[in-house]
Amino acid sequence: MSLSVALTKGRLEKAAVAMLEECGYGVEKLKDKGRALAFEDTLKDIRYFLVKANDCITYIEHGVADIGIVGKDTLMEGGSDYYEMLDLKFGQCRFIVGGMKGCDPLKKSGHIRIGTKYPEVARQYFASRGMDVEIIRIDGSVELAPVLGLCDGIVDIMETGKTLKENGLEVYDTVARISARLIVNKASFKLKRDEVMNFITDLERIVNRNAEGNQ
Ligand code: PRP
Repeated sequence: MSLSVALTKGRLEKAAVAMLEECGYGVEKLKDKGRALAFEDTLKDIRYFLVKANDCITYIEHGVADIGIVGKDTLMEGGSDYYEMLDLKFGQCRFIVGGMKGCDPLKKSGHIRIGTKYPEVARQYFASRGMDVEIIRIDGSVELAPVLGLCDGIVDIMETGKTLKENGLEVYDTVARISARLIVNKASFKLKRDEVMNFITDLERIVNRNAEGNQ
């Protein structure tokens, strides 16, 4: 196969496959995949595989994948040995600081505890504000942590805002806007430059077309 492409499972998967289909790639098998995790393009010389977001960076950094599609949230949290080439503009959401209604953790004095799946993003955000906080790593259902008293606030992803609202939390600040990004293995960028650039150009065309459609 000329190119190996790591796609992030879950939230970004459907939009990524839809974009590849719009580019004219043979991704039918990815739409009706059952439990399979690796697929060959029926039209192009490309192999796709589906991985967890953090693992997408690992596969890219180890050169197993040439190209990866992954959220900016994951890129902000860790890994740096890749080229970030394109903002794909789907999977748009925000990193936010949240807390219980009426209890802004940013206004709390003394010891502050922050629950998050993204300790590095949280650490950098609070350090930039000169706030010394205790970061508590949580793997999921982050909105529950302040409700149960594990922490005073959270740093988490917000897409629709429903999870926050339905658990009695509100947003107190935006840390960063995030969306899906295309990343490239550094060696592949040199050794497979034409194939990589053709792939990027195809996706970029769709990103620009969608942006024009939204104007
Ligand atoms: C993410 C995030 C929030 C939720 C936000 O969790 O951590 O909990 O989605 O989405 P919303 O603003 O549209 O409500 P995810 O669904 O990935 O599940 P998790 O809690 O198991 O990590």
